Amino acid sequence: MTPDEFRKSGHALIDMIADYRTNVEKMPVRSQSEVGDLLNWLPDTPPASGEDAGVLLDEIASQVIPAMTHWQHPSFFAYFPANADLSSVLGDLASSGFGQLGLNWQSSPPLTEFEQRMCDWIRQLLGLSGQWHGVIQDTASTSTLVALLCAREKATDFGQIRNGLSDSAELVVYSSSQGHSSITKAALLAGFGKNQLRACAVNADHSVDLDDLRRQIVDDIANNRKPCAIVGCTGTTATTAMDNIDGLADLAQEYDCWLHVDGAMAGSAMILPEMRHLWRGVERADSVVLNPHKWLGVVFDCSIYYVRDEQHLIRVMSTNPSYLQTAADGEAPNYRDWGIPLGRRFRAMKLWWLLRCEGADQLQNRLRRDIENARWLEQQIDAHPDWHLVAPVALQTLCVVHRPSSVPEPELDDYTQAWCESINASGEAMLTPAVVADRWIVRISIGVIATERRHVEQLWQTMQAHTS
Ligand SMILES: Cc1ncc(COP(=O)(O)O)c(C=O)c1O
Repeated sequence: MTPDEFRKSGHALIDMIADYRTNVEKMPVRSQSEVGDLLNWLPDTPPASGEDAGVLLDEIASQVIPAMTHWQHPSFFAYFPANADLSSVLGDLASSGFGQLGLNWQSSPPLTEFEQRMCDWIRQLLGLSGQWHGVIQDTASTSTLVALLCAREKATDFGQIRNGLSDSAELVVYSSSQGHSSITKAALLAGFGKNQLRACAVNADHSVDLDDLRRQIVDDIANNRKPCAIVGCTGTTATTAMDNIDGLADLAQEYDCWLHVDGAMAGSAMILPEMRHLWRGVERADSVVLNPHKWLGVVFDCSIYYVRDEQHLIRVMSTNPSYLQTAADGEAPNYRDWGIPLGRRFRAMKLWWLLRCEGADQLQNRLRRDIENARWLEQQIDAHPDWHLVAPVALQTLCVVHRPSSVPEPELDDYTQAWCESINASGEAMLTPAVVADRWIVRISIGVIATERRHVEQLWQTMQAHTS
């Protein structure tokens, strides 16, 4: 494609995206597509000759957009939001359009220096002290894997790097039974066996039970195992439960464990000073992850991993082949030594666009709006005899059940899944069914950029219309 062809089709694509965002509210939220629809539509074999990009744009309009689940729809209340603020979309385009690749400082000085500065801007917005050093990873899953690799090396005094997995056989990783599946995956990838993972019990508010955690640590030590890492959660996926990070830090200190805080979703809430009590003690952690690609609004992917001891991280992660060495080594960070991949995208450009175009005030106002909308829905549910919350509403996620007298207790799980599916199939809104404390519940996650109070009011009507 020539630059002139790019200019022509690019303008048309931007128009299409702007129209899509303007009109997305009119579309059914969940995809109406059947499995295989697009696979059958796409030709079996690759094209032999090129076509005009205008044809592709037509096909996006006729085939792709109708098949999408609309994450930016104001009535999308499923999972957690994956907000793609249009400012960051332009940042993404800029990052791709200039075709930058980070291997070392020299390969793209702007990539490195924007990343340094953007991680520090976000650190300041979160109210974290200057002891933290950030790096952008693709996802929280990768960040947690890096954390556990660092924990393993700290616990073995770099024994795994020297001797392979044999040195980590006795090490144990602890998290709550409500911890994200990425913790288990990260632990397995980092060489911990399933027998070396502990899922601790939780309290009534679904935060980790510190007594159970201590019991398990003591038991492991009695059996000649070595506690290695504790993963605490600021905002679990099912209920946004908040682990007591200060209490976890006490245990981590007492038993010489790495403390990693998974704030993938709720970490963004810490741009609000009034929410920072939810991760009190975070300064005592060894590493923290949050995903600006969730609530904050940076288009996927953008996860920031903060560490206190960046030299330890570099020691675990660095490789230094001759062909990547430059005169600037030692003067500027080589972010390839702060994570797993060698090549890096210019993700900081997306953050820069979001922060420059929106400003901290607007981001804070939006998150406060979402929290107030969640409070409003919480009040409606509290005031209704048949609707119940099964977890505290820490931020913007509500976990609800509808329990009318007409539905016998043994049928409640089927009933819950049925009304949730009825709403999702209707396209009016999208919610997530989930199991909490062995019962099916429905998660309502408020926080899409386009979601105003009227959409939450409409959701409340929809919930009542789809239940008996
Ligand atoms: C608490 C928590 N941790 C980790 C993750 C994984 O995030 P990612 O997709 O960035 O790996 C999620 C995803 O929703 C999450 O909710």
